[in-house]
Amino acid sequence: MKDLFEKIKANRGPIGMHAKESHGYFTFPKLEGDIGPRMMFRGKERLNWSLNNYLGLANHPEVRKADAEAAAEFGFAMPMGARMMSGNSNNHEKLEAGLSALVQKQDTILCNFGYQAMVSAIDCLVDRHDVIVYDAESHACILDGVRLHMGKRYVFKHNDIADCEKQLERATKLAEAQNGSILVITEGVFGMRGDQGKLKEIVDLKKKFKFRLFVDDAHGIGTLGKTGAGTGEEQGCQDGIDIYFGTFAKSFALIGGFISSEEQIVEYLRYNMRSQIFAKALPMPLVVGLLKRLELINTKPELKDKLWEITRALQSGLKKAGFEIGDTNSCVTPVYMNGSIPEATNLILDLRENYNVFCSMVVYPVVPKGMIILRLIPTAVHTIEDVNYTIDCFSKIVGKLKSGQYMSDKIALHSEIK
Ligand SMILES: Cc1ncc(COP(=O)(O)O)c(C=O)c1O
Repeated sequence: MKDLFEKIKANRGPIGMHAKESHGYFTFPKLEGDIGPRMMFRGKERLNWSLNNYLGLANHPEVRKADAEAAAEFGFAMPMGARMMSGNSNNHEKLEAGLSALVQKQDTILCNFGYQAMVSAIDCLVDRHDVIVYDAESHACILDGVRLHMGKRYVFKHNDIADCEKQLERATKLAEAQNGSILVITEGVFGMRGDQGKLKEIVDLKKKFKFRLFVDDAHGIGTLGKTGAGTGEEQGCQDGIDIYFGTFAKSFALIGGFISSEEQIVEYLRYNMRSQIFAKALPMPLVVGLLKRLELINTKPELKDKLWEITRALQSGLKKAGFEIGDTNSCVTPVYMNGSIPEATNLILDLRENYNVFCSMVVYPVVPKGMIILRLIPTAVHTIEDVNYTIDCFSKIVGKLKSGQYMSDKIALHSEIK
């Protein structure tokens, strides 16, 4: 028998095993100063492409004012308790009504964390007789929700509608045999590659199969669709989404999330979703701050227009400069390169320290060995100059990568950079 702590110390996990070399620089970096395209990193200003502040609301003057006034008026303790017991308020209900209108659903439940909301909603919606069918590249919160499911689950290849259909055939047989139901779960926008889930095609499968569709639209809400209602609106199939999830952590630039659906389904969630009935409600200043953000999303379409102007300039500029950005059709902009992990770390060091550009890097084990993804998140507060400068820097670093200049022994470790 092993001591639990000894076991943990011997195996720190696939990312944790690199903590010693990467902590504070590649992992857990500290971005300081006002949130925006220019932030301080290790005492120097960098051009920042790593925040999901899509609409630039994080530091919008009206948002900052609303947040500050709400904090002064209510304090952060208000309301006390879970919504069901003692933590309900008119503002919570007003926000739910406003979100329902935005995403064109009958009703909405606010949730205190997006991740937890997805896990808990999946747990709450299905029982052991039901069958889940889900996309293979689903976000961790969907995978964790599916892990809680006591019944059977079938996974379909990422965005592969033929395979989805195949899994639905299997799911239908099982659900019929045990008198259960089918829940299909996918995403509006896949956050790594930036490709939209094929929602329209999945909704079309309802003509052949009996199921309900749950969509995690964390990256779609506020960024896609004519009114910002997300990926379903963008693809003209919002009505076919039976349960809609949005986070407040991206376009809304805050924290928390929401789930919208038919009135009776939301009522069921309100009275059965364990993460909400047994946890404290969202604090009042957050709710009031969210009402302001929702008002801006509804009344200032120019923010989304600007986001897309920057996104299009970035994505077309990268393609024109010869970069591979895959099949993104959202604001998420991955730039694919080939190289080892030491090359990737040297490349990021060079980009941050010598060109003052800060973006996230994704390497093995998140993507296959030999692949490097630099992930750029454009926002409405970036400029065309930021785009041009970044593409120019990328062209320089990829030239160095291809000529072997980032081979491990040639560039100093970040711990040696003062
Ligand atoms: C697709 C997706 N779902 C859910 C979440 C979790 O949302 P939150 O950060 O609000 O907990 C995220 C956030 O990264 C996400 O990208």
